[in-house]
Amino acid sequence: MTKYKSAELTNGQVKIVINDLPNPDEDTIFIKIFLSGICRADVKEVSDSRDIAEDRGPLFGHELNGIITFAGKDTGFKENQLVTFNPNVTPNRTTGFADYMILKAPKNILKQAVIPYDRKLDKQKTILVEPLSATYHSLEKLIGYTGPIKSKKIAIIGAGNAGTMLGLFAKRKGASVKLFNIDDGRIQFAQKIFEKDEVFKFSDYSKFEFDIVIVTITIITPKSLKMAYECVKSDGFIHLYGGTRSDHKFLDTEVNIDTIRRNELLKTINYKGKIINLTGAYGSGPDDFKSVFNILDDLPVNKLISKQIQFHEFPKLIMDMARGKVDYPGKVIVRYSP
Ligand SMILES: NC(=O)c1ccc[n+]([C@@H]2O[C@H](COP(=O)([O-])OP(=O)(O)OC[C@H]3O[C@@H](n4cnc5c(N)ncnc54)[C@H](OP(=O)(O)O)[C@@H]3O)[C@@H](O)[C@H]2O)c1
Repeated sequence: MTKYKSAELTNGQVKIVINDLPNPDEDTIFIKIFLSGICRADVKEVSDSRDIAEDRGPLFGHELNGIITFAGKDTGFKENQLVTFNPNVTPNRTTGFADYMILKAPKNILKQAVIPYDRKLDKQKTILVEPLSATYHSLEKLIGYTGPIKSKKIAIIGAGNAGTMLGLFAKRKGASVKLFNIDDGRIQFAQKIFEKDEVFKFSDYSKFEFDIVIVTITIITPKSLKMAYECVKSDGFIHLYGGTRSDHKFLDTEVNIDTIRRNELLKTINYKGKIINLTGAYGSGPDDFKSVFNILDDLPVNKLISKQIQFHEFPKLIMDMARGKVDYPGKVIVRYSP
């Protein structure tokens, strides 16, 4: 029986365990994983600081690419297809921090969750398609509310992966973009991708006024919302991308920002005499993945990856990230073979 290794998360502890690949059923797919990406949501699940949506389940190990080594006859897939994974629909699945992922679900669910890609695409680039799709989707959702953003002034609060990707997409649409970050590490990292006059420290925000402010930080804080409120013009948009929890409100109002983000709503409020349009977006779908595949070669994906590790280094690294002992700007990628 074929053995495979996977990361097991229990009460904040991550360890690698060895499993047997099960006897597959007709609705089962095995994906042999090439690479996985570490997402802030994975880190938050290790530190138990993330509300897990009941409809989607835990995300731990959801950014990946690989090859199908078994596809049951009811799955609609074939062996040797190259694929990525969309975690916004939840089949019965094992973690993507593993050298194999096993999915078992009806064909219509698998079609949403397993996204094939063309062999011509570089696997080093396709590993970022899931987070790129989420940010692509978020910007498209925002544009659905604001109208075209060409020449619009956009501030992005947080120059992490999400902020950087949103900035790249907004620039492609012709917007004038400025990224703001609290600490220097990510400012220096972002300056390798953006122009010097596009990346700033948090404290500089009051020098500007924006049509749109997108908040992308790990957990959206009152301080970041206050910044967004102060630098957005009247009747401008504050778009919520970063983490929110079920009871989070817009400053001292009763407006629930988690509901706006997770349900992708627009809520217009008058806060202290200024009209603000609050919007949000959450997740992505197969069409977003396909749109990103089409432009992947134009994106500076390799500049977004800061570190690559082997799987045996993964448990310590993610637990250290969860405890705040280490932090890396950009993406950390896990490899399963040397
Ligand atoms: N809406 C969606 O569909 C969706 C999808 C995926 C993820 N997300 C959310 O997006 C969040 C960000 O993801 P990411 O990949 O960009 O993470 P990331 O690469 O780790 O970046 C996190 C950013 O947040 C900043 N930050 C953290 N705590 C802060 C604080 N207290 N004050 C100010 N800035 C702070 C960091 O600043 P430093 O550089 O100074 O540390 C960094 O710029 C995740 O936590 C997740 O909840 C949303």
